[in-house]
Amino acid sequence: MFALFSALIAAGLLLACLTGYMLENYTVQLRPRGGTGQHSRGEQPPYPAGGMDNIFWFLQVSDIHISKFVDSQRAPDFQKFCTETIDVIKPEIVFVTGDLTDAKERNRIGSRQYEIEWQTYQTILKKSRVLEKTKWIDIKGNHDAFNIPSLESVNNYYRKYSAFKREGSFHYVYQTHFGNYSFICADATPSPGPKRPFNFFGLLNQNKMAELSKLASEAVHSNQTIWFSHYTTSTIISASPGIRRIMSSAIAYLCGHLHTLGGFMPVLHSRHEHGTLELELADWMDNRRYRVLVFDHDLFSFVDLKFDKWPVIVITNPKSTLYSSPVHEPLGKIKHSTHIRVLAFSPAQVTSVLIKIDGVLIGNAVHIEGPLHTLPWKAKDYSKGMHFIEVQAQDKAGRTTIIGHKFTMEEVELLTFDIMASFILQSSHYIMLRVIFILVLLANILVIIVFRYLTKPQLKESPGFFTLANFSFHVFSKTNVLYYPVLLFTCYIAVGPWFIGEIVDGYFGACFVFGIVVDGHFLEGSLTFFIGILQLTFFNIPLICYLCWCLLLRCRGAFFRSHIKYTGWIRSVSMHIIMMGLLGWQVYACYFLQKTYGTVAFFLSPVRTWSVILALVLVCKAWNLNNSAIRTFKAEMKNCPYS
Ligand SMILES: *[C@@H]1O[C@H](CO)[C@@H](O)[C@H](O)[C@H]1NC(C)=O
Ligand SMILES: *[C@@H]1O[C@H](CO)[C@@H](O)[C@H](O)[C@H]1NC(C)=O
Repeated sequence: MFALFSALIAAGLLLACLTGYMLENYTVQLRPRGGTGQHSRGEQPPYPAGGMDNIFWFLQVSDIHISKFVDSQRAPDFQKFCTETIDVIKPEIVFVTGDLTDAKERNRIGSRQYEIEWQTYQTILKKSRVLEKTKWIDIKGNHDAFNIPSLESVNNYYRKYSAFKREGSFHYVYQTHFGNYSFICADATPSPGPKRPFNFFGLLNQNKMAELSKLASEAVHSNQTIWFSHYTTSTIISASPGIRRIMSSAIAYLCGHLHTLGGFMPVLHSRHEHGTLELELADWMDNRRYRVLVFDHDLFSFVDLKFDKWPVIVITNPKSTLYSSPVHEPLGKIKHSTHIRVLAFSPAQVTSVLIKIDGVLIGNAVHIEGPLHTLPWKAKDYSKGMHFIEVQAQDKAGRTTIIGHKFTMEEVELLTFDIMASFILQSSHYIMLRVIFILVLLANILVIIVFRYLTKPQLKESPGFFTLANFSFHVFSKTNVLYYPVLLFTCYIAVGPWFIGEIVDGYFGACFVFGIVVDGHFLEGSLTFFIGILQLTFFNIPLICYLCWCLLLRCRGAFFRSHIKYTGWIRSVSMHIIMMGLLGWQVYACYFLQKTYGTVAFFLSPVRTWSVILALVLVCKAWNLNNSAIRTFKAEMKNCPYS
């Protein structure tokens, strides 16, 4: 037990170190590396001025999850987005970053592709005629890859019903007379696509990475590059050198996938080591979010928005310091600019755009063209220190919006992102999960083995809790009928198949902790490690503890029917309630397995269904043991006067 504790502490420490290492990346340098490049471009015209030039904007929306079963308002709202919102904002491009459909069964557990959901999506695009109004780039998410044996499969409805229909990674260049802008999609959806839940992490193998490197090199001459994908980089298992490194010339990486983590993280933005921003966008599904992004004189600005909330404001000059990247942007242009520039959109006419800096009203920006409003300013007056710009826009319908941000023209050491958001976006979850799994597993195995070979302590008068716990571990590890099955079962979790079943309909495969084998493909494990940690912590370890407790009582002469006499009602009842709860959880896991991967998986499942039976058998064994071993322990216990 002691070993177990120390191992867990070690695991904690290691985790802390890993975290510490990752946290290091938050402190961001505003100082450009190398000094040239973007830095010198900041000292060259064009500079932001009063006219409608060198500017364009685009939209992102993510995780739409059109569903046949839930939230009947989701699709109509999306249609309204495709008509009203698009008509008002008039974006050059719309990026839909995956999970176009929900692909979950009525019970919300199983998964499959429903053609009707895809047809609904396509109908919305057609009815709203949105494809005629803007460039619509929709990519796949993990839900769009549930239960798909191969890209050629008829169930791969993305091919048939999406607008862009482009499988795999690609490079889209938006060309204007003032510059070229690259958009690179990193397609990390697995193929074959397993059913849920073991289809959560994205995969970028060596080939896909090579392809992405090629795309990245194609984009070097573009004014700016943006990468986008469905997955956050922290939920992609990517081959060396890793996605974060090969996208390091991009100013931003746009994604979805994590929704808001159940409402806990409404804003998931961070910045990677090389300056690339990672901007996760909350979902359309429940939160009805979308994002407006702007390149204005190659300065990047964006705002995350809620559907149908007007007016929408984006301040493009001076841009936010928090979201600045000196490596990628010509930030020097701000101090040479002659005008504050704001985009204000609303279905009703925008009547005023009031601008304040550091709480002082500067003036009402003049409408130039489209959504652009500008106001002359003396940038020089703000060249020192950090300032706060606030813009209030009002429309004819009487609605107002206020937004603001900090800005500076100095090269200061910078504003940092929320620690939690940075942790979620910058760590590599699959690596952490692997490390924790291995540590918990080793601690578990070590405890079982070590007690077998340690010499048993002599019980003294009135032994305390730890002495008794220690003694019970000795009894457990030295009782062959319990020791071997538990040891083998624990090792099995790391090496054996957890279950064999229809990973994809019609295709049987095996799920191991380290990955899934199906139809001749190997899909690296990720979420499996997390489930493995839960399995060890909430099933294997409690089972061992229960067996030890039970053996200790046996040594004191108790049987199941008589044990209450030894422990008292309270302890016995609470112990059994906890154990029944944990067993219930395991039984639910078996039910979940049946619903997700089918009946065959339910029956051929050593780590789920079989483990419930194993646990019951072992518990019966422990209560009914009556061999020589237990008799010796019993004798020993008797000799020790027990308080
Ligand atoms: C954009 O790319 C095209 C084609 O590669 C090239 O001819 C053009 O000069 C580029 N424009 C700018 C402003 O760099
Ligand atoms: C885009 O890049 C070209 C070539 O470096 C440059 O001449 C042009 O001014 C840039 N566009 C903007 C808006 O800065």
